[in-house]
Amino acid sequence: MTDFLDINKTAPDDLKKMIAMAKDMKQARMGQPKATLDADQPLANHMVALIFEKPSTRTRVSFDVGVRQMGGQTMVLSGNDMQLGHGETIADTARVLSRYVDMIMIRTFEEATLLEMAEYASVPVINGLTNRSHPCQIMADIQTYEEHRGSIAGKKVVWTGDGNNVCASFLHAAGQFGFDMVFTGPEVLDPETVFVEEARAKGVSVTLERDAQKAVEGADLIVADTWVSMHDAQSTRERRHNQLRPYQVNEELMARAKPDALFMHCLPAHREEEVTSAVMDGPQSVIFDEAENRLHAQKAVMRFCLGK
Ligand code: CP
Repeated sequence: MTDFLDINKTAPDDLKKMIAMAKDMKQARMGQPKATLDADQPLANHMVALIFEKPSTRTRVSFDVGVRQMGGQTMVLSGNDMQLGHGETIADTARVLSRYVDMIMIRTFEEATLLEMAEYASVPVINGLTNRSHPCQIMADIQTYEEHRGSIAGKKVVWTGDGNNVCASFLHAAGQFGFDMVFTGPEVLDPETVFVEEARAKGVSVTLERDAQKAVEGADLIVADTWVSMHDAQSTRERRHNQLRPYQVNEELMARAKPDALFMHCLPAHREEEVTSAVMDGPQSVIFDEAENRLHAQKAVMRFCLGK
């Protein structure tokens, strides 16, 4: 049994095995009704707690459906409704939950909360997003890229806008899967230096480019995310919009990438802000495949965590 806390904390071979398993599990279910149980039932008799301290559509539904397809049961918990939101320590919560459930997925604010949960839980803990990273999303994104274009190794991925938690997990993945990254956005929203340096130390190229037009030249994949994340103060909204407007992904920007470049967004998106509807609904967009693959990739992550 093991935790899945971040892409840079999981061995590249294990990550690749999980992506391969996700593709196989997806293929095996093709055309079946969504509630059909997987043939091998790897989570039979397992209970999984899904804790949310922030809103969620994709993470909540895909984990819930994924556990059920694998024969397990879920308990979806809101941080506010638990004693966790009313003074009980994370360590005590982790120890108590470990007596009831076989695995914990948590979406929270501070990375420290996730790490403390993992330290004190005696069952596997999965990172369903913190302010610093979102590894399950990027596992789904790698699966999606590879389903459309083959191996992502050696490709050029361009992240546009805010160097946020999703960008951080893409940088983790660059080092582990061996692809190059360009971040294009204003300097004040650069990703944390530690993420950039760690990827570079693993032998991939990471470039910070202020000019979005230049950044996307030769790109295999262009990625956008909301300009104001869940953990950002709404008071920063106007300033961020002014800073990020030059980094909007539109048809003109997409045209500067490779002709077969893909567009990704983890969703939810703010149409006509960080990306235009023409791109989101256009032929290069794979946004709904990414959303679907949250289900398949996370099923592989859960099996990995439980040694199944
Ligand atoms: N991409 C993502 O994590 O979506 P939710 O916030 O809806 O879970």
